[in-house]
Order: sequence, then C-alpha cells, then structure tokens
Amino acid sequence: MPVRVFLSLVAASALFGTLVTACSQQSSDNTPQTTINSASSRTDYHSFSNPEEIVVTHVDLDLNVDFETKTLSGTASLDIDRKSVQASTLILDTRDLDVSQAACGEATIDFSWGERDEHLGTPLMVQLPAECQTITLTYTTSPEASGLQWLTPEQTAGKKHPFLFSQAQAIHARSFIPLQDSPGVRITYNATIHTDPALFAVMSASNDPSAERNGTYEFTMPQAIPSYLIAIAVGDLHFKAMGERTGVYSEPAYLDAAAKEFEDTEAMLIATEKVYGKYRWDRYDLLILPPSFPFGGMENPRLSFITPTVLAGDKSQVSLIAHELAHSWSGNTVTNATWRDLWMNEGFTTFLTYRIMEIVYGKDREAMEFVIGHRDLEDDLNELAAEDTRLTIDLTGRDPDAVFSNVPYEKGALFLRELEQNVGREAFDAFLLSYFDHFAFQSITTQQFLDYLNSELLAKQPDAMSKERLDEWIFAAGIPAGAPEPKSPAFEVVDSSRSAWLRGEVSASDLPTSDWVMHQWLHFLQKMPDDLTIQQMAALDEAFDFTRSNNNEITHVWLMLTVKHDYQPAYDRLYNYLVGIGRNKFVRPLYKALSETPEGKAFASKAFAEARVGYHPLTVKTNLPYVDEM
Ligand code: BES
Ligand code: ZN
Repeated sequence: MPVRVFLSLVAASALFGTLVTACSQQSSDNTPQTTINSASSRTDYHSFSNPEEIVVTHVDLDLNVDFETKTLSGTASLDIDRKSVQASTLILDTRDLDVSQAACGEATIDFSWGERDEHLGTPLMVQLPAECQTITLTYTTSPEASGLQWLTPEQTAGKKHPFLFSQAQAIHARSFIPLQDSPGVRITYNATIHTDPALFAVMSASNDPSAERNGTYEFTMPQAIPSYLIAIAVGDLHFKAMGERTGVYSEPAYLDAAAKEFEDTEAMLIATEKVYGKYRWDRYDLLILPPSFPFGGMENPRLSFITPTVLAGDKSQVSLIAHELAHSWSGNTVTNATWRDLWMNEGFTTFLTYRIMEIVYGKDREAMEFVIGHRDLEDDLNELAAEDTRLTIDLTGRDPDAVFSNVPYEKGALFLRELEQNVGREAFDAFLLSYFDHFAFQSITTQQFLDYLNSELLAKQPDAMSKERLDEWIFAAGIPAGAPEPKSPAFEVVDSSRSAWLRGEVSASDLPTSDWVMHQWLHFLQKMPDDLTIQQMAALDEAFDFTRSNNNEITHVWLMLTVKHDYQPAYDRLYNYLVGIGRNKFVRPLYKALSETPEGKAFASKAFAEARVGYHPLTVKTNLPYVDEM
C-alpha cells in the first residue's frame, strides 16, 4: 500500500483521513461493505494528482514520433482551473517520463519529483505562478513506456513500415503524457503529431481519412474525456468505409477482411441509439491492430482499438465490436469515477452487449453468449480470493492490471439483468436511457448510481429489489443465490452429441455437427470431462481438425485441453499460438496452465523467450510470473 508515497505529498492531509478509513474496513468474511468509502468515495488511490485543488481541463499536444529511439517527444500544454485560491502546486502523474522544462508562457517555472511508486509511477510537482492559466511541459517518453508498443517493420503484417500504438487504460496514459491520470478528471485535447510521411497517424479524436499523408496530422477532441481514453496509433494505416458513420483503419493486409467481418457495425450503432439514446461522439470507426495488442478491444472514443484475432471470417466474434461500441454510452459518456467503480464501465457495457447482440443477431445467439459469459464468471469465482469477487473491489495499494477478471463484466451484467427482469424490459430501458442522459460527460461513483437508481426506478417500483438484495449484489462476494441463470436450447443439441460420443455410441465424425456455429464448438469442448484420454483427444482432432482451426477462440479452448491432457501432436500449434498472439485473454491461461508442471514450464519459458521481443509490455508483465527467464 502506497502510504509512504501519499505521505510524501502535499495533499497528504486530505488523503490520509480516507486512507485510514479504508484500512479499517478490511474484512475477510462475506458481510457487505456498505461503508461510505467503498461506494461514494472519489479518492483515486491510483493517481498522485490533486484535482480537488487544481484541475487540468484541456491538453494541447505537439509530439514527434521517433521510431529510431522509440520515443515520443515534444510538449504538453495543460490548461488549469484553480479550485482553491491558495493552491499553488499542481501535482501530475508520470511514469518514466523525462521532463526537461516547465514553462508558463515565456517564463520557465520550478518543478520537482516525488518518490517513485512501483505501480503508480512518479508524481511531478509544478509550482504555479499566481496568474498562470496554462503550463507547457517539454518531455520525452521512455522506450519502455508501459502504455506504448513500438513494433519494427518485421513485426507488422506488411513488413515494410514500423507501427506504434498506445493502450492507456487503466493507468498508463501517464507513461506518454504528464497529466492528472485519473478517470475522475475529464479533459478536452488537441494534438499535432509529426511522423514519417510514409506513415499515417490516428487518435481517439476527430480523424480525417483523407488527410494529406505528409507526416503532420492534426486532431481535436472537443468532448471532455478521462485520460485513459487518450489514444494514438501510427503505421501504414489505410481506411475503408463500412457505413455512413462507421469505417475501418488498418494495415492493408487486414482492411478488406475487417470491413467485411464488421460490416454490421453501422446496424449495431443504429440499434443501440434506438434503445439508449443518440450516439454522442460523431463517427464510430475501428482500428485493427497487430496481433500483439494485449486486449480484445479498447473503447477509445470515435476509434475503438481492435485485435485482429477476432477476424474469423464468419462474424462469430463480433460481440467484441458490440462491446466496444456500447462503451460509447457506458464508460465514455458516463465514466467510473475511480478504478474501484470499474464494474460500472464494464458491467453496464456487458449488459448492453447482450442486448445489442440479441437485437442484431437474435435471442439464440445471445443465449449462447450468456451461457459462455456466465461460465467464464464461474471459473473466475472458483479461482479468485473472495475479496476480489465483489463489484466494488478494494484496490488500495494494488496494481489495477493485476486484478483483471470477469467479475466486473459478468457479475455486473448479471446484476443489471436481475434488475431488468424485476422491473420489466421497457422500464429498465427507459431508466438506462435517462441515466446516460442525466450523467452524460460525468465521472460518477457507485453511490451516485445507487442514489439515482433508488430515486428514479426503485421509488416507483419499491418491490422490484430490496435494499438487502441491492447491497448483496454491490458489496458482497460471489453471486447472490437465485440470480438469473442462462439457458441455451442450441447447446442442448451439443450436450447430447457429446454424451453420445463419450458413451461410445457414435464416432466423432458421425456426429451431426455440419451446421454448428463457433459457440456450439466452444461449448462442445469446454464441457469435455476431466478424464478425457489421449486416444479421445486424437479422435476429436482426426474428426474435426481442431489443431488446425483458424478460429482463435476454438483454438484457445483446444489448446487448453492440449495442455491439460498433454496431447503432444498439438504442441507445435501451441508454440506458434503463444508466439504469434499477445492478447492476454488467450495467452495468459495457457502460460498459467503450462506453468503447473516442470516440462510445461520449460516449454512455456522457451516460447516466452522467443515471443518476448514482440509482446506488449503488459503481456510481458502479466505472464512473467509463469515462466523462467531465459
Ligand atoms: N476497456 C476494456 C479493456 C480494459 C479494461 C483495459 C480494464 C484495461 C483495463 C475493453 O472494453 C474490454 O473490456 N475489452 C475486452 C472485450 C471483451 C469483454 C468483449 C477484452 O479485451 O477482452
Ligand atoms: Zn469493456
């Protein structure tokens, strides 16, 4: 816990009170923690900044992208608003930034560094002259910046040009911009980006696909966003329109495939607007990244960042697009105030994703996705410490990257599903519509949501959910008894096929699988018994060619079985998969499973050593615990 660091700060007195309260609330039993701190506090334990005294309202960036030195360098000008007249020290978040100068207009001003914290980086204290409204910092990023990945031409699809992309959520914006890196602080931004004219730059802002490719690119983001939504990518990027407001940017190699795979994006956008209100961000484009992107997707405003690993050719994984699009309402328009409230970003978004998938692709598909999402949640509940299965999780002193799980996503969505069931779909849709409107462009705490829920929905339907039930969902560990349970008719067919095959009544190749979709294959494999034999693994592979599947979700589940049953014929594929993909959802469970035996760990270490140069810093950090460094 960073008590030491907080105490070294000017704002220590303000923070200390809350910190002590937080510590005294630790409890290991399952009593709901309905205390003030866990739901209504706006104290962000993951930022050193002091927005309650001085808040940054706008950032102007002028940055040079240098692939030789793997650095961004230039200036960040910060407009500030003083909340208290005496306040004269602006505290900013940084990580591994080299700041060479601070200035107010022509005059240089004093700044100093605080102590570095392992998770949070280093606070930068800037002394503000009395009249100063805007400060300009001249800085350079580190080649190891935690929020940037620099790829060589060989590491891209086209092999000719380098590629840079950022990933700021949760606390990595500070590794490429000195700012108040807290989701509770909203800023507008402008940027001028200088790069090689052979390359094209895009940002989470206004993008012009027909901008002259001359190496200087201008951006504006006129809507106030939290810092974790600032994003940049530079590479051999081209654009293809999909609909009136939607299109794809990517390297030429993925462009046509992506535009085809995601052609329903415009329909998703229109469907979501119909239920939850007008899209407030102008355009909605996708950027397809290299396979080392550590996430499936990231909801950077106006331009979601997307892994290419979902390009399956059959739209089987487009719920990812529904998810990132839905964040335009839940997350980007209404934002969690601190990372403790993450479930409000991810749980609402997961709920909306299911709704969008049902509208655009029908109830059967939604039902299958709900079963799979619910299973992912149950798997996590079995693995995680009870403390980490609460929606309002205690992150004090922890690295938010280390606490990532399905809980905020699927438990959050399950809670909203129960509310919806109890009040009726129509009333719940109307409630969410008004919620997005009421809190638009604000960062809010769990308590603000609860107050609004009580006054706008539960006051009208008091029997819909008791205070005790609400508290159990929000504050207690695990899933409350009697929560909604998924059911998919399309999976019943799969269950009977699997059982018949396991009983030896029918050979694998005679199973009636010709019209199965990805979700059914996932269900078929995920529910295989623990005592599957090598002969059975071989029979499945022979009949269905799983080792050579080009659907990365199916391959993932197959490779998990491969490790579990030590099915040697698929280890080459496993090796290539680990080296070729950096998406943590796929590689982390494999590294973890491999690390459980000495032979597995040796194999994992070898793959990791080869993959490491191409992995994103987050993928390296996440998987290092499972391998021996070679
Ligand atoms: N905003 C998240 C990614 C994220 C969360 C980054 C927390 C850093 C910290 C994004 O919207 C997301 O949830 N991505 C998922 C998509 C999936 C649930 C469809 C992913 O990448 O797997
Ligand atoms: Zn999300």
